[in-house]
Amino acid sequence: MNIKTIGVLTSGGDAPGMNAAVRAVVRTGIFNGLNVLGIKKGYHGLVHGDITEMSLSSVADIIHRGGTTLQTARSKEFMTEEGQRKALNIMEVFGIEGLIVVGGDGSFKGAVELARKGARVIGVPGTIDNDIPFTDYTIGFDTAVNTVVDAIGRIRDTTSSHNRANIIEVMGRNSGCIALHAGLAGGAESIIIPEVRYDIDEVCKRIMQGRNRGKLHSIIVLAEGVGGAFEMARTIEEKINVETRVTILGHVQRGGSPTAFDRIMASRLGARAVELLMEGQTTKMVGFYNNKVHEVDLEKVLAAKKKFPSEMYALAKILSI
Ligand code: F6P
Repeated sequence: MNIKTIGVLTSGGDAPGMNAAVRAVVRTGIFNGLNVLGIKKGYHGLVHGDITEMSLSSVADIIHRGGTTLQTARSKEFMTEEGQRKALNIMEVFGIEGLIVVGGDGSFKGAVELARKGARVIGVPGTIDNDIPFTDYTIGFDTAVNTVVDAIGRIRDTTSSHNRANIIEVMGRNSGCIALHAGLAGGAESIIIPEVRYDIDEVCKRIMQGRNRGKLHSIIVLAEGVGGAFEMARTIEEKINVETRVTILGHVQRGGSPTAFDRIMASRLGARAVELLMEGQTTKMVGFYNNKVHEVDLEKVLAAKKKFPSEMYALAKILSI
């Protein structure tokens, strides 16, 4: 298909690697003779026409940067029918024939709404939560997991010195993916996630088992979707008399230079998104599945739920006895 102008925006919570995806969109677009417009602050910029022409140099020196230089937002206005109409009008005014949305499921819902009203859209999964189906990973997840693993190492040092337990709360919204991956990589005694019911007596038993064989620290990784870290710490202290601290990692997990994995995946997904628009495709998500870039219907993505890796959870449990 002969399109001339495409737009790109980043939306929802930022994720390390979003810049690499935008860079890939801009450079692939320009390489293929397209005009590429950068929309600032996600859908907010689309509703209000906060749009700039991108050049090769507007994405120079960003592949290694965390955050998103296009900035992002969670636009309430865009959720309304009127907001979406305004956005469509802006797309027409700026001649945007195809829109690439880098974001999570909330952003994809918005993209589908635009598509239902006639826009051409392609989604690129960017969220640290890794809660999007039909892609093994989302942009930013690998970096966030590495940040958490680094934090676990630091917390383990001080926890050992004091012979304590530490509950480390990590992000992920309703998904336990960050907790599971970081907990396995960090050797946590217990990983508490929304996908699996937990028993506080088992958590205590694991702490005591470790201590009885001379372990100086106990690390519990808790997903924010379960929550209740401080109450859990009090219960552990009451039940087994082990001093327990809480660390809520928060937004530290969202920042920082993206890992090579995130940069490479973001580059591949961003480039493929442009190709799909040039092929005349719409309402698709580009994903990374079995080590390959593929595309899938965006509506199918929204209707599905990501499969929980129960075998990985079981393995983490065995390895932390
Ligand atoms: O979706 C990414 C995420 O970081 C979640 O893990 C977290 O629950 C949420 O965003 C936090 O949102 P905000 O940055 O708006 O506080």
